[in-house]
Amino acid sequence: MANDYIVKDIALADYGRKELDIAETEMPGLMALREEYGESKPLKGSRIVGSLHMTIQTAVLIETLVALGADVRWASCNIFSTQDHAAAAIAASGVPVFAIKGQSLVEHWDYLDKSFMFEEGPNLILDDGGDATLYILLGARVEQGEDELIAIPKSEEEEAIFAQIKKRMAANPGWFTKMRSQIVGVSEETTTGVHRLYDLKKRGQLPFPAINVNDSVTKSKFDNKYGCKESLVDGIRRATDTMMAGKVAVVMGYGDVGKGSAASLRGAGARVKVTEVDPICALQAAMDGFEVVLLEDVVADADIFITTTGNKDVIRIEHMREMKDMAIVGNIGHFDNEIQVAALKNHKWTNIKEQVDMIEMPSGNRLILLSEGRLLNLGNATGHPSFVMSASFTNQVLAQMELWMRGDNYENDVYILPKHLDEKVARLHLAKIGVKLTKLDAEQAAYIGVAPEGPFKPEHYRY
Ligand code: NAI
Repeated sequence: MANDYIVKDIALADYGRKELDIAETEMPGLMALREEYGESKPLKGSRIVGSLHMTIQTAVLIETLVALGADVRWASCNIFSTQDHAAAAIAASGVPVFAIKGQSLVEHWDYLDKSFMFEEGPNLILDDGGDATLYILLGARVEQGEDELIAIPKSEEEEAIFAQIKKRMAANPGWFTKMRSQIVGVSEETTTGVHRLYDLKKRGQLPFPAINVNDSVTKSKFDNKYGCKESLVDGIRRATDTMMAGKVAVVMGYGDVGKGSAASLRGAGARVKVTEVDPICALQAAMDGFEVVLLEDVVADADIFITTTGNKDVIRIEHMREMKDMAIVGNIGHFDNEIQVAALKNHKWTNIKEQVDMIEMPSGNRLILLSEGRLLNLGNATGHPSFVMSASFTNQVLAQMELWMRGDNYENDVYILPKHLDEKVARLHLAKIGVKLTKLDAEQAAYIGVAPEGPFKPEHYRY
């Protein structure tokens, strides 16, 4: 089909291609998979719907899936995260992509719907945050009348998804149920999407196998941590140009993203405080040298507030009312409900530039809100650097291959890739940064009870 894409400006394709070429030099894992499987094309016959931030790094992922034989259609999983030149380069290469930075919520679900429109429908989902999976499963349940109550929208977001579901149901009765039965599996990129999958499994509503890519060690302990370490401060700087050294920053949550975020702010010279609900993570934060506090106790004095919890209502309206003039408020977790942005809607908003707003509180104090509370490293900057995304996306490709080639071996459950593949992903990234790996001799290997070529750790090891 001619022009089977929606992008901001197809003329940006050349610029996108140049950055893509550079990104390839920083993504050794993906390039190694192209080398290893480019000829045998193990993904031949697969039709993959991708719902993941349409960035330059994702473009290298898409082209790797295509090099391995897949048919691909793509949408972004966030309204602000698309890099328009990356989307243009992918569209120009002939892969249908539907993503514009700053698209509306209605467009978000429309574009996701369009990414499902393979002639014969897709057979695999590559998801980030679970929207593509949600669209099909929710649609099928509404179609089957399995739960009428779920069809009552409770937010602007839900209104948009239900409107899109109704549109598709009217155009193609039975479509969602058909899609639900022909998808052979999903691989999920992020913590929040993985929570959704385990929840579906618990409720007996997971209709196909799922691979939890997030919990590969080479994903969550690298992308979530070292990725945010680079991209959090990048986002704050591009949005505000504020001096960070000496400022007081509060990071809410000290999981993998929180650890990277706190390190990012500390690296920029901020004085960082942490809030946590989990005693283990709170103790980790304290022993990493951060003061662990209650938000209520520091909210009036801090300069920068960042949520990293994947939880909702973490910064509430009563907190924002207490904040000092020109406090910066942002979120780096997957969804925008960590900050009660809806409660600010009737205040005075002044748009400073794209994805940066100044909001006047009743006291007269102003807040700088980044990306309307959506993940700021992708909204205000360009997300994580290519090198760390190479590790994440190498896991994604391996997961798609596993589902496509050996999906029959799996139950409708959530799986993690085996450790030897996790180690393989890490191994593929060593040479690029000059890491020399010590070899175990046979005696040493026997002494610690592993094979000389690995896996080197038992399943219960936590890194
Ligand atoms: P995690 O589960 O490792 O960490 C979240 C932490 O927040 C936990 O330690 C939890 O105890 C804590 N927490 C929960 N409720 C809290 C509350 N009310 N106050 C303070 N702390 C609270 O999850 P992870 O991997 O760190 O991911 C966090 C979020 O970031 C998820 O939504 C994930 O999808 C997203 N993510 C975003 C990325 C980005 O580039 N922006 C990259 C990777 C993940």
